[in-house]
Amino acid sequence: MNDAPAGRAYAETFLPEDEILQNARRRGSEVGAPPIQPGGGAALRFLASAISARAVVEIGTGCGVSGVWLLRGMRPDGTLTSVDVEPEHQRLARQAFNEAGFTGGRVRLISGRALDVLPRLADGGYDLVFCDAAKREYTDYYVESLRLLRPGGIVAFDNALWGDKVADPSRRDPDTVAVRELGKLVRDDERLTPLLIPLGDGLLAAVKTG
Ligand SMILES: C[S@@+](CC[C@H](N)C(=O)[O-])C[C@H]1O[C@@H](n2cnc3c(N)ncnc32)[C@H](O)[C@@H]1O
Repeated sequence: MNDAPAGRAYAETFLPEDEILQNARRRGSEVGAPPIQPGGGAALRFLASAISARAVVEIGTGCGVSGVWLLRGMRPDGTLTSVDVEPEHQRLARQAFNEAGFTGGRVRLISGRALDVLPRLADGGYDLVFCDAAKREYTDYYVESLRLLRPGGIVAFDNALWGDKVADPSRRDPDTVAVRELGKLVRDDERLTPLLIPLGDGLLAAVKTG
């Protein structure tokens, strides 16, 4: 964040992370599971709280930064179902969830590839779906998310700006193209009320209204 304009840095750190999140963030960066930035995490907590989310799916557990933010916004009896292909990332995420006091049935970790696991989850059974795994699979996550969400539920995607590459039409690498394509799909989907939140690396959120 050092090179960001002052207002952007102020917004990003407006809600500072506690030691639990800072430690989870450090572990995520060390093992190559880059966590959502603090502003995006705070936005997730806000969204979960605004809809009193009880059942949330996370695609890309990483080391638990986004999961802790989500759980802190969810109802106290809510369950986070989080999918990741790397067991070591989920082991470190479990450590963060325990440190944050989210034990027992509050977190269901599923190890596996997202596109293998998601079809096993119930139609319309979830209040919020957060996507943060393989960027090239984002349009598949979008399709699965709309199936998983109840009416009025929210889908959110991290990295909607993808390091400012999405906004630059000359950038045509597969990840950038996939995130750009996702943006168009969400923006033009009449079943959704979308919002691109320019915090962190961009959080694309949408309410399933239709
Ligand atoms: C950007 S990190 C997630 C960070 C996490 N959301 C956070 O804020 O702490 C992406 C994670 O997605 C996982 N991943 C990548 N491709 C995947 C796939 N196809 N299925 C499931 N998980 C995947 C990686 O192992 C990694 O832990």
